[in-house]
Amino acid sequence: MSEPSYLALLGEIHERLLPRTYLEIGVHEGDSLRLVRPGTRAVGVDPEPRLREPLDASVVALTSDDFFARHDLGEVFAGVPLDLVFIDGMHLFEFVLRDIINVGRHAAPATTVLLHDCYPISAETATREHNTYLWTGDVWKIVLCLKELCPEVDVHVVDAPPAGLGIVRHLDPGVSERLQGRYGEVVDRFVNMDYSVLDGGKADLLNRIDYDWAVIEPLLPASF
Ligand SMILES: C[S@@+](CC[C@H](N)C(=O)[O-])C[C@H]1O[C@@H](n2cnc3c(N)ncnc32)[C@H](O)[C@@H]1O
Repeated sequence: MSEPSYLALLGEIHERLLPRTYLEIGVHEGDSLRLVRPGTRAVGVDPEPRLREPLDASVVALTSDDFFARHDLGEVFAGVPLDLVFIDGMHLFEFVLRDIINVGRHAAPATTVLLHDCYPISAETATREHNTYLWTGDVWKIVLCLKELCPEVDVHVVDAPPAGLGIVRHLDPGVSERLQGRYGEVVDRFVNMDYSVLDGGKADLLNRIDYDWAVIEPLLPASF
């Protein structure tokens, strides 16, 4: 039997945390958005959503950049803090960096951000060009970026199949301002980073943790 995937973990996080609000970037057919529990106000953002069935969520057909430019999250969630975010949109470093910056501008102390595909399985599936069926792009670089530039941010990556689920805590508007201020320099540097930097020890460099609830639970807020 194969191990439970990132979707099982995302579902368990919804079940246990019961977030008041949930923002999902990258909806596709709704496999992750349908895991939202009753009582959670959910908004999905995707320029080309292809929902297979109606869901109890609002889906905004925009890129995440356009969504953040045109909508105020405070208004979108009627003043209720941003509890849980899942970033699974465009799988390129600079897009994920902008998503992190935009989410951080609205983050509260308990805000928990989940990042898909940041524990790549091979160099071939982690290229910036989309060449393989399973493609994780260079999302993994955001883990190194946050560790180096924002040491106050907690980032761990659960080794959940197929390519990991990151857990990011303690983003805040100050972190976003710092990252935005260095955006050009940071993008130049990380976009050009080669996969071979992970040869030095992928697990340690990407803060890998086991898919074990006893390890994961202390990383999550006790309540919202
Ligand atoms: C991997 S799929 C999402 C899968 C979904 N979260 C799930 O787990 O079932 C990625 C989605 O991101 C969307 N996407 C691409 N560029 C985007 C952007 N700039 N902003 C938001 N979503 C984007 C694509 O249209 C695609 O549907």
